[in-house]
Amino acid sequence: MGSKKKLAHFAENLNFPHLFQPEYDDLKDGYYMQGKWGKDFFNNDNPITLEVGCGKGEYTVGLAEKYPERNFIGMDIKGARLWRGCKDSFNKGLKNVAFVRNYVQMVPNIFALDEIDELWITFPDPQPKKIKINKRLTSPPFLYRYSKILKKNGIINFKTDNEPLFDYTLEVIEEGNHKLINSVKDLYSLDNFDEVKSIKTHYEKLFSDQGFAINFMQFTLNPEAFFDFNTKK
Ligand SMILES: C[S@@+](CC[C@H](N)C(=O)[O-])C[C@H]1O[C@@H](n2cnc3c(N)ncnc32)[C@H](O)[C@@H]1O
Repeated sequence: MGSKKKLAHFAENLNFPHLFQPEYDDLKDGYYMQGKWGKDFFNNDNPITLEVGCGKGEYTVGLAEKYPERNFIGMDIKGARLWRGCKDSFNKGLKNVAFVRNYVQMVPNIFALDEIDELWITFPDPQPKKIKINKRLTSPPFLYRYSKILKKNGIINFKTDNEPLFDYTLEVIEEGNHKLINSVKDLYSLDNFDEVKSIKTHYEKLFSDQGFAINFMQFTLNPEAFFDFNTKK
């Protein structure tokens, strides 16, 4: 994308009523929306699904269209990508969608304990280097952060083309004694899981078109895995 177009999108981002772009200082003592997303933004107490690393937000917007009785929040650090999701949901008149531009690391400062009912992690960067292992969105430090906002037994859905990341995540689940609900390699070779196949993200389309198998899993967190957990370790 040309830098002129990018700047125009950043300017438009400032005017979307459903895009929140907190600065670091806004989050230090907890964001003003923490614990209030349902009451103050969506004006209801419907369940909230959060998509982390949502990119252009296809999943968030697609789910919001399908499930008007639920609320959806997409989160990413890249404003130019979020613009697409903001624009599409705005043009469709969807009232059950919001976007947050910030680092996923900050979720405990943006949402309150038990505020999120379900989580989606869609095609996260694989971060293959060992030194960046804790940057993987399915690593124990991230699961710990999700445990701070997800309701008990809230489902985490994870889709990726990257088999090493998928296998790594299975190990993390086993080591943490988390509960694996479904684990599927090559999703599109199966007859079931129609629901999960019904929306494709930007990266999912790219990887599918290149012939990569798409993998999917669902799990819930074991709260006991996080006693004494310290993300700074
Ligand atoms: C490979 S893209 C996938 C985007 C989208 N989910 C899709 O499937 O098309 C990964 C996205 O995660 C975002 N991301 C990666 N790490 C992040 C972090 N720690 N905080 C916020 N966003 C992050 C990137 O900005 C990027 O948009």
